[in-house]
Amino acid sequence: RAAAAEAVDPFAIVAGEVQAVSERLRHSVVSNVPALKAAADYYFRPGVQGKRLRPTLLLLLAGALSGAPPGAEWAAPDLRPPHEPPAEPRRRAQRVAEIAETIHVASLLHDDVLDDAETRRGAPSLNAAAGNKLAILAGDFLLARASVTLASLRNHEVTDLMSRVLENLVAGEVLQMTAAGEQLESLDHYLHKTFCKTASLMANSARCVALIADAPPAAAGAAWEYGRHLGLAFQIVDDVLDITGSSSVLGKPALNDMKAGLATAPVLLAARAAPALLPLVRRKFKRDGDVAAAVALVAAGGGVEAARALAAEHAAAAAAQVELIVPSGAGAHARECGDALVAITRRVLTRSK
Ligand code: FPP
Ligand code: MG
Ligand code: MG
Repeated sequence: RAAAAEAVDPFAIVAGEVQAVSERLRHSVVSNVPALKAAADYYFRPGVQGKRLRPTLLLLLAGALSGAPPGAEWAAPDLRPPHEPPAEPRRRAQRVAEIAETIHVASLLHDDVLDDAETRRGAPSLNAAAGNKLAILAGDFLLARASVTLASLRNHEVTDLMSRVLENLVAGEVLQMTAAGEQLESLDHYLHKTFCKTASLMANSARCVALIADAPPAAAGAAWEYGRHLGLAFQIVDDVLDITGSSSVLGKPALNDMKAGLATAPVLLAARAAPALLPLVRRKFKRDGDVAAAVALVAAGGGVEAARALAAEHAAAAAAQVELIVPSGAGAHARECGDALVAITRRVLTRSK
């Protein structure tokens, strides 16, 4: 599988369907609340719509579990209204992908308000362009839309799991905002917060796809673990890029985390070799020169390398789950989707934005 994963482009396999899911989402926002067209344009316009990692991995997971190659008809947008239950398993998987992306975008809209962010994905953030009030309401609308779509699946376990994602997202943000004392220096606290902020959505939506596919419990558990490990790897790399990346590549400001007082994995891991970082962490890099001093200490303490190694461990743990997800004796399509899920674990490590 390792060699096969090198050869496959994970984003190409389900690109048509992911496009259909995005289109459905954009259309539903614009047609229901025309005043939110600007919001929809900001977040779902081709080129600005991000990597669409979540819908991609969820539809690949659906393929890896079900085995049947999706017919071209699934790449045509589902025109049913959000509250109408789709009977076909593939359409149900698409709805989980749509719900996950909707929640993700809602959380970014609110996050950019909380962080006073001026840019997102290389463009002005919605709060910068249209003000905090509209950005908050646009996020609320997306959450409402995700709830209606979730109800259409008529599956209490799926509702339970996705509702917990919302709880985790808010809890993660509050944990981050209110961390004090020893929590600021704790890698465990950071990892718990990171699970809540990033990995919970991937883990729980992956489990939902498995439940909808009637996958055996071991495969559903592996799907959850895949999402959890991938989410942790993804966020740790994000935190590395915040330190090593330039804002022009990232499409958002660099060194944002330290400037906001946050010590992430590269800092916390560097502090083991460079304990002079700890007082800076405790005072949230608030004194003049703290951010520059911390950057130098992170380099001296090997923080970027250590964080990359931790991300690689989680990516490898995610890849190891794929064997438990693809049924034995699966057909060519399921195996290709499995290879693509492994390929995603590699891409997460090598991305530059
Ligand atoms: C991005 O983090 C933010 C998140 C992953 C979650 C934000 C969650 C909330 C604002 C709670 C409200 C939740 C919902 C569902 C509306 P970041 O600021 O570290 O990353 P960035 O560099 O991409 O901004
Ligand atoms: Mg932010
Ligand atoms: Mg934030």
